[in-house]
Amino acid sequence: MTDRYCVIGHPIAHSKSPLIHAAFAAQTGEDLTYDRELAPLDGFDAHVHGLIAAGVRGANVTVPFKLDAARLATQLSNRARAAGAVNTLSFVDGAILGDNTDGPGLVADIVQNAGVNLPGARVLLLGAGGAARGVVLPLLEAGAARIVVANRTRATANALVATFLDARVTACEYADIAAVFDVVVNATSASLSGALPPVPACAFSASTLALDMMYAAEPTPFMDFAASQGAQVRDGLGMLVEQAAEAFFVWRGVRPATAAVLEMLRDPA
Ligand code: ATR
Repeated sequence: MTDRYCVIGHPIAHSKSPLIHAAFAAQTGEDLTYDRELAPLDGFDAHVHGLIAAGVRGANVTVPFKLDAARLATQLSNRARAAGAVNTLSFVDGAILGDNTDGPGLVADIVQNAGVNLPGARVLLLGAGGAARGVVLPLLEAGAARIVVANRTRATANALVATFLDARVTACEYADIAAVFDVVVNATSASLSGALPPVPACAFSASTLALDMMYAAEPTPFMDFAASQGAQVRDGLGMLVEQAAEAFFVWRGVRPATAAVLEMLRDPA
């Protein structure tokens, strides 16, 4: 029997996840379908229960429901608990299992696709919202030597750092950034409004990987700025494909290859 999966969000029409999972299913021979689900802004729980009743096996969760999904889950993985958010739900024997594959997706993109080593790396994380929080534990587990969290609102960065209680994770203000980093991750939502977080040029060198978690047809202002300082730049498309691959693995126990799928998304022709 064909198993059903989906991605739940609001809006959802432009999600690339169905394309990605269809490619994974074709490649691995897994018998599944994967659809878009538009849940009402005030009706996430009811929508999920409707999907479970209809026999759906699992769902990815995207903006703005990742916190709702964490609350609704009856069990959380360690990485979902550390992230405080859920992007992958599995419906198993009446239980709702919540996981988070965003951070592992970022790590896989940095290490496997960009070819950058994380053990011993100094990482500058821009932003202290949900997107930033979700990637701290996977970066630490991948061996990052330090993670400096810079945020416009210092109190939010302090609060994020306090949840990890790890000497490798510290907070600072943009104006305090004085060192060069191996990896700079833009986890702010600034790119959505075409803005550049106020990161100083000194954070980048020719051996820095600058990664924006957002993606768009054109490079973001952050990517342009980092490139102008000589850094290697990436958008968030690789992370998107890698988080999907990790979710596919959570559901199916099969790890799809990602390179051809990323290539297809970058060059659909
Ligand atoms: P998300 O879930 O995408 O992380 P969020 O929780 O609303 O969204 O967090 C948005 C993050 O982007 C915050 O760190 C925010 O900084 P503040 O806490 O100071 O508001 C950051 N951000 C948004 N626009 C920004 C901009 N133009 N420059 C710098 N940081 C920005």
